[in-house]
Amino acid sequence: MAITKTNQPYFHVTGKTGWINDPNGLIYFNGQYHVFFQSNPYDTKWGPMHWGHVVSDDLTNWQYLPNALIPGDDFDKNGCFSGSAIVHDNKMWLMYTGFIENQGGESVRQIQCLAESSDGITFKKHGVVIGEDLLPNGYAPCDFRDPKVWEHNGYFWCAVAARKIKGRGRILLFKSTNLFDWEFISDIFGTDSKGSMIECPDYNQELPCLLSCEQFQPSENGVHLNVHTSRFYVGELDYQTGHFAEKSRGIVDYGFDIYAPQIFAYKPIIMGWLNMWDRSCPAEKFGFAGMLTVPRKVSVKDGRLCQTPVVNCQKVFEADVQGRLFDKAEKGVITIKCENLKSLNLKMRSNGTNYTTLSLSDGKWVFDRSNSGEPIVGVEKDSDSLSGKRRMPCSLQKQLTLTIVLDKFSVEIFEDGRALSSTIYPPCDADNLELLVEADTCHYQRDDVILK
Ligand code: FRU
Repeated sequence: MAITKTNQPYFHVTGKTGWINDPNGLIYFNGQYHVFFQSNPYDTKWGPMHWGHVVSDDLTNWQYLPNALIPGDDFDKNGCFSGSAIVHDNKMWLMYTGFIENQGGESVRQIQCLAESSDGITFKKHGVVIGEDLLPNGYAPCDFRDPKVWEHNGYFWCAVAARKIKGRGRILLFKSTNLFDWEFISDIFGTDSKGSMIECPDYNQELPCLLSCEQFQPSENGVHLNVHTSRFYVGELDYQTGHFAEKSRGIVDYGFDIYAPQIFAYKPIIMGWLNMWDRSCPAEKFGFAGMLTVPRKVSVKDGRLCQTPVVNCQKVFEADVQGRLFDKAEKGVITIKCENLKSLNLKMRSNGTNYTTLSLSDGKWVFDRSNSGEPIVGVEKDSDSLSGKRRMPCSLQKQLTLTIVLDKFSVEIFEDGRALSSTIYPPCDADNLELLVEADTCHYQRDDVILK
């Protein structure tokens, strides 16, 4: 079936056709940013997973390359699942999960495979390198996926998501001298995850920080409301004992739509899937499904994972705000700088009937997409989720900077390193913006994105 896009984001990565989910193999290679992603090019629903591929010089304008991995070999018969990339011997190497299921969907197998490329465009598969034989006793072979590879002290290390049989998610650590022969080192967390399964682990030794996603986890009294949540754990991996010592933890993003975030190999830049499992996806109507967040510069500050958006843009409008400001913005980056902020109400992507809002209430930013446009239905049943709301702590700093990245189908909000990302599906004429603010001073700036 041919799929034609009838509408799509201006500068957020989507599939060339069809469905996408997790970003994979994020890597800076030979002077360019390579982004791969889980892709079903044949349909706007999840299906046989390929690795789609885009490349960029400026992290804003992306060019499609041919699919890097196509399923169908014995070891990845039904899908090339998520994974990561590394440079070794001047070549790019991908580690990914080969997914094999029999026709009845029983005896699913997930094994870790390797592929190599000299030009970063065409890949030669080497097949399985971490198979079931390396999975310790007591772990389920049907839930063993998403290898994240990196180098340290002359060895390659690989974190793989796993699950205890009749238990919950874990992260396993493997070690190799050559990317082909691996040995099991440890289960890097002492206890089970709160969710049913951990997915897409990512360890970044420069920050240092561990990321993971948990499926179907309790909200822990509202710490996070999405049933599938991306978390960060600040802390260091002890390569001798294979144990991860956690110092602090939190969620990666406070919005509705973020999953499977990954940090680029060789650059402190993070991107995630700007979407969520178990939600309706109105984008299907426009011939695509799923996109990635904008790239964000990532750091650890005061025990928190901090992100600031990286978008190539130029200033097109600025004003000092006395009380109220009107503007028009369908896409771009809005920066609002306030001194001694007391209250703020921002109406975005509005045409009167449809609008998306951000306001400040009880020391928290409140995002509301209940009137944004096409309704989005999820499985969460708490009152905020049912009324289209997500909340993020406000720094309440004397000098405060709020940054909002707007594209046709998304809003990403940043303040003091925290992020709140959500999809919205408003009509095309919804481009009015209204800001109502109470502060000692307030400066508004709109930048437009430089699209080539
Ligand atoms: C996470 C995930 C991964 C898996 C991939 C399949 O969103 O479920 O665990 O590798 O998606 O597309």
